[in-house]
Amino acid sequence: MTGVNEMLRVIKIGGSAITVKKEPLKARENVIKRVGEEVKPGYPNIVLTHGTGSFGHPLVLKQNLHVEIKGLEKLVGISNVKYWVSELTQGILRSLIDSGIPAFPFYPSSFIILENDEIRDYFIEPIERFLRFGVVPVIPADGPFDRVKQMPRIASGDYLAYFLAEKLGADEVIFTMDVDGLIYQGETLEKVERSELLDIMSKIRYEGDATGGIRGKLEWVSRILDAGIRVTFINLVEQGRLRKYLKGEKVVCTRFIP
Ligand SMILES: Nc1ncnc2c1ncn2[C@@H]1O[C@H](COP(=O)(O)OP(=O)(O)OP(=O)(O)O)[C@@H](O)[C@H]1O
Ligand SMILES: [Mg+2]
Repeated sequence: MTGVNEMLRVIKIGGSAITVKKEPLKARENVIKRVGEEVKPGYPNIVLTHGTGSFGHPLVLKQNLHVEIKGLEKLVGISNVKYWVSELTQGILRSLIDSGIPAFPFYPSSFIILENDEIRDYFIEPIERFLRFGVVPVIPADGPFDRVKQMPRIASGDYLAYFLAEKLGADEVIFTMDVDGLIYQGETLEKVERSELLDIMSKIRYEGDATGGIRGKLEWVSRILDAGIRVTFINLVEQGRLRKYLKGEKVVCTRFIP
């Protein structure tokens, strides 16, 4: 099945691609249905993680769940977020299975413990074993328990992409989203060297969400590059673009070079 010498990719399915971020609980069903066909050329050497878009951020922000969780109402609130995010996970799994790709979900709150928002303890062997057995692991953004803060805290899909890539020794991390790549001074950048990234980050204008939006993402990109792993931003709302990229064709995207 998965050969140790073959190229491994971690693909993050962006919340911006599978939902309409500004409208709570609005999914882009057409994009979710295409996930399987889009990632198929990368099978079996792919691990998927996904963000929550408007199934997570607005619900979290409304009750301030990323800051404080006290009382029954908020406990119901975090359970409700988990419920809705699982709907996205289910949609992605359905799409993969319909495309003939074996896939299992792994929930970070079940295999990760945080300390001050950093992944401290984890049990990744099941993911490795299933991956090598030919089953694509699908790992949603989640709220693992933080043993220092004594509450669940967010582990974003971007963080999980970094974590998985680093632990599994991936060759590339692909962040999919609803734009063509990293937009800087009005244009989509084709190529960004690691040495240029910090400067771009300091100048970029951004709007925050529960995990820092594009700025938060670039911080994870920087850490992935530091680990020597290349990064690509690709628009998943554009039909066939990721599929073509995985087949080795040239497409519009932003490539970050370590
Ligand atoms: N300079 C920029 N370049 C690229 N995208 C930008 C820029 N500024 C803002 N964005 C927006 O940021 C989005 C990516 O970050 P965001 O966190 O909103 O999406 P995501 O990570 O796909 O969603 P989620 O966090 O729910 O998984 C892009 O889809 C785009 O709409
Ligand atoms: Mg994000």
